[in-house]
Amino acid sequence: MRLNQVFLAGLASITLALNACGGGGASPSQAPIAATPPPSPPTSSNSESKDAPAEGLLRDTYAGRFKVGAALYSNQVTQDTEEGAIVNSQFNSIGAEYEMKPDFIAPEPGVYNFEGADRLVDYAVANDMEIRFHALLWHESTPDYFLEGTREDIKARLEAYITTVVTRYRDRVKIWDVVNEVVTEDANATDPYRQSNWQTAVGNNDYIDWAFQAARAADPDAILFINDYGTRFEGKRNQYIEIIQDLLDRGIPLDGVGHQFHIPWNANAENVLASIDAVDNLFAGLVNHVTEMDVSVYTDPGECWQEQRNCDEDYGSELPQNIDSTQARLVKAIFEGLAERPSVEMVHFWGVSDGQSWLNFSPIERTNYPLLFDREFNPKTWFYAITDPNYVIPE
Ligand code: GLA
Repeated sequence: MRLNQVFLAGLASITLALNACGGGGASPSQAPIAATPPPSPPTSSNSESKDAPAEGLLRDTYAGRFKVGAALYSNQVTQDTEEGAIVNSQFNSIGAEYEMKPDFIAPEPGVYNFEGADRLVDYAVANDMEIRFHALLWHESTPDYFLEGTREDIKARLEAYITTVVTRYRDRVKIWDVVNEVVTEDANATDPYRQSNWQTAVGNNDYIDWAFQAARAADPDAILFINDYGTRFEGKRNQYIEIIQDLLDRGIPLDGVGHQFHIPWNANAENVLASIDAVDNLFAGLVNHVTEMDVSVYTDPGECWQEQRNCDEDYGSELPQNIDSTQARLVKAIFEGLAERPSVEMVHFWGVSDGQSWLNFSPIERTNYPLLFDREFNPKTWFYAITDPNYVIPE
């Protein structure tokens, strides 16, 4: 289900890129805003200006603090589209939305497909960008054959996969999401580990240890991450921390913690930042990365995600100004907080522009506005809010 949605999002990005190339263009659903914002713009989001932001504005604003990047599809790294130009001009790090996942790289036994990952890695190296490799193990992108046979078969297959991938890129890639989303989905569970296809096949959680150990063996200098979502909620955060502590206590090679930050526009910045503080408070020297940030303009209940029921109504092409502004205030507060926390070394968005986000398809098909740039690749209110300290966010 979710994977289909990811594919759809990928197709959307390809369609968008083609539209942009062909001059057809996606229809504007949010008006552009001025490149040099006035001190107190009454309706700055309605400006006619379509100027691109200054070269390097976003990455330079946070230079010396953390890298800023985005997860992309390999067709987005090009100098030939507006979106590609944004990537080049504003980010100093990239990763993959999908093409670095196991079911893409190793769909069948003995078949390896490195085309997308190679293209992204080559592009990053050629343009002096950092790379986040996401992810070596995720229950949702595990090909069925990975989990066939005995526990020993599964271990050997996982080790062979991780060794192959890490060895291929180890001269160019240092940052690896080793395991993704291994925390339980039950906020009240006393066992913090996810009951997943991996846990069932292996019989316990040893696969997590195997993954980290294989990655470290393939590259002793690799920086190895665990990654998860929903950590602004205390229950999930505590479960995440319990797993991190358990891995550290048992000497599993873990260097960093990923915080996805798929958050809604009305989230509380302090709760979001508490996720970073909880890791810092372990005093284990762990690095923090924000790995998949996007800010949905919907605040759906759990049943919308689980059963596509009671989802918020589609805003269509008319996003209310107060949501755009609240989104900008939230992100500004989060970025200020991140900049104050020295353990944060990278912030990645999950995509570049609104039209291409997976959130237009998940949990239901609907127009979303979760990213830094609008459907015509103009910077949005929150882009200015995090790059210009004097910018006044419209009411
Ligand atoms: C999770 C995964 C990502 C991506 C997103 C959106 O957050 O970690 O790899 O698939 O879902 O689908």
